[in-house]
Amino acid sequence: MYWLGIDIGTGGTRALLLNEQGRIVASHTAAHEDFRMERPLWAEQDPDDWWRAAQLAIRGVLQEAQTDGSAIKGIGFSGQMHGLVMLDAEGKVIRPSLIWCDQRSQPQVDAIHSKVGRDRMVALTANPAITGFTLPKLLWVRDNDPASYDRLRTVLVPKDYVRFKLSGELAQDVSDASGTGVFDVVNRTWSRPLMDELGLNPAWFPQVFESSQICGRVTEAAASATGLRAGTPMVAGAGDQAASAVGNGIVEHGIASCTLGTSGVVFAHMDAPAYDPMGRVHTFCHAVPGKWHVMGVTQGAGLSLQWFRNTLAPDTSYDNLMQEAAQAEPGSDGLFWLPYLMGERTPHLDALARGGWIGLTARHQRRDLVRAIVEGVSFSQKDCLDVILEIGVDVSRVRASGGGAKSALWRQILADVFHCRVTTLESQEGSAYGAGLLAMVGTGGFGSVAEACSACITETTIIDPRPRESATYRAHHEIYKTLYPALKTSIRLL
Ligand code: XUL
Repeated sequence: MYWLGIDIGTGGTRALLLNEQGRIVASHTAAHEDFRMERPLWAEQDPDDWWRAAQLAIRGVLQEAQTDGSAIKGIGFSGQMHGLVMLDAEGKVIRPSLIWCDQRSQPQVDAIHSKVGRDRMVALTANPAITGFTLPKLLWVRDNDPASYDRLRTVLVPKDYVRFKLSGELAQDVSDASGTGVFDVVNRTWSRPLMDELGLNPAWFPQVFESSQICGRVTEAAASATGLRAGTPMVAGAGDQAASAVGNGIVEHGIASCTLGTSGVVFAHMDAPAYDPMGRVHTFCHAVPGKWHVMGVTQGAGLSLQWFRNTLAPDTSYDNLMQEAAQAEPGSDGLFWLPYLMGERTPHLDALARGGWIGLTARHQRRDLVRAIVEGVSFSQKDCLDVILEIGVDVSRVRASGGGAKSALWRQILADVFHCRVTTLESQEGSAYGAGLLAMVGTGGFGSVAEACSACITETTIIDPRPRESATYRAHHEIYKTLYPALKTSIRLL
């Protein structure tokens, strides 16, 4: 008997099979083909490309495990959050999705705050409006593409479109709904007052479920498209960060995670919802019933290194780049990297922020440029951790995951910059793994999310901060924090 976890990421869709002990037995990823950045601040993908990739990933993982759909007991989802998927009356996609890193909607954010009030937004949804969330994207379409807006019947986020194609059901889980900006996070339900104030039709928004609740079954048509068995149940799943937190066992207070993917996220569990009045971190429902989480986001984490490699070092592997960085001194000889390649969320909440190296001299070499990137992203993640600590959430150690955490150097720099223990887990799978565990919880594999995590999650490497390097980074982080505020006015004129 197996369970299937599906993660609709930005670069690709990944499918994993878990066995009865919650161990990964097979995985398969299918790359996405569509990513458009037609104008500055824009980022779009075609939802049908996610569905194409999901079908390939599901077929691929079944083949890898040399099994068929009859062995799958349940399916769970995770996915990139905040993307706007618009469906018409026939359930067809109306226009490309404005995805999580699309930053075009600042005028709509301003309009929401002037109509509803920023404090009232926080009171209604636990967060202010930001360009990253789904709501301002929807209002951008209303203001700039009225023909599409007129045809709107359903608003989904990415993973829920794939669920819809598999089951015919319109459903969403509380963690992903939290990232739309139209959700009453404290009461775990859509915010009707906000919809009324903004003239949004409540019928556009799907029914919400807790993450491990069953909310659909594979249809005959989807069964023949994927090799799954018709009738296989699927649970609601979670946004990629909450799912990754389940995969990393961040389901009790005291432990936080740092996930270094395209974006970088520091995530902590909360038993009761606390929020930052300035909105620098997001307070969302957790994938654990009746629990919440807080997270801070660096928009351009792995993206910074990916940009460097693609643009300036196309013939060098990431491993070699990290080896070069290891040759540079902690602090990169006074060179700083601001990772704001796609604007920034925590702590600046500034869609127009821009990145760059500061402090270049003729002495600097490529190894310093790379190390400064790794350090700059880590400082930005420390900014996230600091806000989380500031609002009273207790964090004594951090579990690192995602592509960046595969590097021992990056993990050590994180421990030195965070001044706390950083661990990694046996399973590095994060979101797709969490989605699989949620499927197990919803269909009888485990009694609860906490039980699943304590049975399946083991820490492997443990890294402690080094006193000398920590002291250097403490001083450098203080300088780092002054740089963007000093440059902000000029950067916004660009
Ligand atoms: C979370 C966020 C990213 C995306 C893409 O708020 O924007 O994690 O979900 O991974």
